[in-house]
Amino acid sequence: MDLSGKNILLGITGGIAAYKTPILVRLLRQADAEVQVVLTRGAREFITPTTLQAVSGRPVRDDLWDEEAEAAMGHIELARWADLVVVAPATAHFMATLAQGLAPDLLSTLCLATEAQTVVAPAMNQAMWRSPATQRNVDILARDGRLLVGPAEGEQACGDTGPGRMVEPEDLFEVIRQCFAARCLDGLSVLVTAGPTEEAIDPVRHITNRSSGKQGYAMAAAAAAAGAEVTLVSGPCILPPPPGVDVIGVTSAQDMYDAVHARIAAQDLFIGVAAVADFRPAQSTGQKIKKESVGTRFEMAFEENPDIIASVALLPERPLVIGFAAETQKVLEHAREKRRRKGLDAIVVNDVSRQGIGFNSDSNAATLIWADGELALPYQSKQSLAQGLIRHIADIFTARLAGAGQESRAS
Ligand code: CTP
Repeated sequence: MDLSGKNILLGITGGIAAYKTPILVRLLRQADAEVQVVLTRGAREFITPTTLQAVSGRPVRDDLWDEEAEAAMGHIELARWADLVVVAPATAHFMATLAQGLAPDLLSTLCLATEAQTVVAPAMNQAMWRSPATQRNVDILARDGRLLVGPAEGEQACGDTGPGRMVEPEDLFEVIRQCFAARCLDGLSVLVTAGPTEEAIDPVRHITNRSSGKQGYAMAAAAAAAGAEVTLVSGPCILPPPPGVDVIGVTSAQDMYDAVHARIAAQDLFIGVAAVADFRPAQSTGQKIKKESVGTRFEMAFEENPDIIASVALLPERPLVIGFAAETQKVLEHAREKRRRKGLDAIVVNDVSRQGIGFNSDSNAATLIWADGELALPYQSKQSLAQGLIRHIADIFTARLAGAGQESRAS
């Protein structure tokens, strides 16, 4: 997509990943965007204004009190000029500043003053990222409607390994392009399931599936950003509700089935990302099972849970139905077979045996399989993967509508 006429304000804060930002500026300039770089004091320790001025073609701003620059374009004017604000890398300190609504320097003042969407790409040591304070700020920023991209997992400049790397400039560029892409689900209703389900054994024990809910929440957020009215039926997870999404919390597969069927009639699309437990304990006792009453071997009978997505696909007036599958072997073969068996319009499959893919990871790679084709989406953040998937799912929806139109004209 061409970004000509789009004004992007790129805020760079003081992290080592700042050295990657000239690549992002180059990509944006190649797509004909105007880029105004704003540096914090910390950022100047990692990258020079000269480099960024050279690649962006504009003098870099870094001071709220620079009279000359303010005379040319005041900070409020600059905040209005921006069609999109991108903060990359965003340090833990800057995220805390943004979450509290403080305005001690030019970049934080601009973030407070702008009405444009803000994309935040965190970058920090993995322990700083995991700290409760940073996670609280992540929650606040997501609730405020800021779009968080990453961090990615991997080796860090400080020698640690874990979540905290800034997403690659190419992935950020893709997210930025998608922020300007047409609202491809405008006016449509979408129901998403996410997270695991918990099947009670007794009041203090349950069995469950491994799922953080991250990919499902990212799908719901991307569908809402694409203009849809989104309901998210979520099993137990600790994620903040995506902005603008109606979240219904459930526990068991049967609860999820009931919550979905109570709302399905009004939906244009159903996206089943939840890792639904296929079986539940045949008997769940009202009292805690005591160890002495069991002995040294514990056997339990299970009964089958309803297949939620297959039941939606069987409805006479069905929405477009998209499933997800996590496989460990013969990945594409199993997914193709699962799509046919469950009567799905499309299925998104990922290979969870690959390192850094699926479950609790912040990144993912996947293949979208539908009746007429397959598309491999490369390793990227779950948010940008979700945005890419939503665009392709919207195309499948449009093709189905066109097909239905032709059929009704023929009959
Ligand atoms: N699904 C569902 N209800 C179930 C089980 C699965 O809606 N009881 C949905 C999931 O949300 C997902 C798709 O079906 O969209 C595939 O889930 P998966 O667990 O891979 O399917 P299974 O039929 O359980 O296959 P497997 O034998 O691989 O576990």
